Amino acid sequence: MNILIMGTGYVGVTTGLVFTELGWNVIGLDPDHNKTASLSQGELTFYEPGLDTLLRKHIESGRIRFTSDPEIAVRESNVIFLCVGTPSDKDGSADLRFIRQASESIGQFMQDYKLIAVKSTVPIGTNKQLNQWITDAQTLPIPFDVVSNPEFLREGSALNDAFHPDRIIIGCDSDQAIDLMKTLYEKIRAPFFVTKPKTAEMIKYASNAFLATKISYVNELSRLCENIEVNISDVAEGMGMDHRIGQHFLRAGIGYGGSCFPKDIKAMLYMAKQYGAELSILDKVIQVNQTQYSHFLKVWEQKLGTFRNKKIAILGISFKPDTDDLREAPSISIIQHLLQIGATVRVHDPAAKLPSDLLSDRLEQVDRLEETLEQCDALILCSEWEQYKKADWVQLKAYMNQHFVFDGRNVLDGNHMTKLGFHYYGIGRHY
Ligand code: UGA
Repeated sequence: MNILIMGTGYVGVTTGLVFTELGWNVIGLDPDHNKTASLSQGELTFYEPGLDTLLRKHIESGRIRFTSDPEIAVRESNVIFLCVGTPSDKDGSADLRFIRQASESIGQFMQDYKLIAVKSTVPIGTNKQLNQWITDAQTLPIPFDVVSNPEFLREGSALNDAFHPDRIIIGCDSDQAIDLMKTLYEKIRAPFFVTKPKTAEMIKYASNAFLATKISYVNELSRLCENIEVNISDVAEGMGMDHRIGQHFLRAGIGYGGSCFPKDIKAMLYMAKQYGAELSILDKVIQVNQTQYSHFLKVWEQKLGTFRNKKIAILGISFKPDTDDLREAPSISIIQHLLQIGATVRVHDPAAKLPSDLLSDRLEQVDRLEETLEQCDALILCSEWEQYKKADWVQLKAYMNQHFVFDGRNVLDGNHMTKLGFHYYGIGRHY
């Protein structure tokens, strides 16, 4: 069986390589020639741990190949996974342009039965709409099935998440398609949850929105903890021991970012309005997230005296560790805020690069951690890369002018840092 992956971003490349590793033949299709050319040579166009090794392995084995030609790709495949982006439109709704283009290519070029599985995060009813777009583009009435198969992998741990998912959601009305999906995934040890397409679409949005709500809840709690001198990390740990609550996604910080939570919550709010319902809790989730970093910048500025004319080091600019993705990263808002109030900023990140148009005589990025900290008055840790947790802080301290450490992810050992002579402050953390 040949599998076609339409869209070669994080989800597409990871899904393609997972199926290749499971023994299937895979074609990756993307209209961007530069992307497919570089993937064909075993070069990833983004940073994701472990993915480059697997890509090179299967370029060599010949079981995965990449093309920009939809005609050949559609004809040669039996199963098609849609992994194209669904960015936010101006009004917050999901822009389905790429989904529609992909559906039309499928309809136009298919010559035999296809199973089309939608991995992209799409609004309720899109799977149904897809049937129509494909049918409209067909010249002959060739049968096909559409399945909603949302993806739950995270950037930074994409391979592990894709090989070991908590569940595989299959939203479909056709028994033949459900059986085929189960065959594709049979080597993955995870429960199947078979449901209606609309329900599957909703499960994806509802899961992301729930996780973001959990984070905003703990983030807002951290503000109270800051004022009452209680340690939010201990509160979260104690709460998480209740299995109904769980430890995950309870880490207070400067806010969530990335290409999914912000976009999906907006899309969900839009859908709620569209269908005459209210999801007012999500308005609050967004509001807490948007003000979390500025709330703590104010707290930290009071500790330092002022940020004006100070040299500030930013450690970690990606929206989370183990990725070079800067989309909706709180670090960018923090940097802009610091520059606005007259600070000089030097940033460090093991993988992400600041776009050159942001750089100026008051904002630079350097490669070595020591150089980042040189003569700085304070550092702000924005994403919790292992390198920072494992750093030799005794040695690094010597580079700094003043020893203020503002830990935006609560990952450094505050007691230890204080003993070393740092003025350590986290997010709602007290000792
Ligand atoms: C998220 C979901 O976790 C995935 O299940 C989903 O597949 C993906 O979106 C998607 O829809 O494609 P991702 O955005 O890659 O994955 O990363 P997460 O690990 O969820 O982190 C999102 C943000 O939340 C990051 O900025 C992270 O720093 C923040 N976060 C996470 C916290 O602030 N606290 C936590 O306890 C956990």
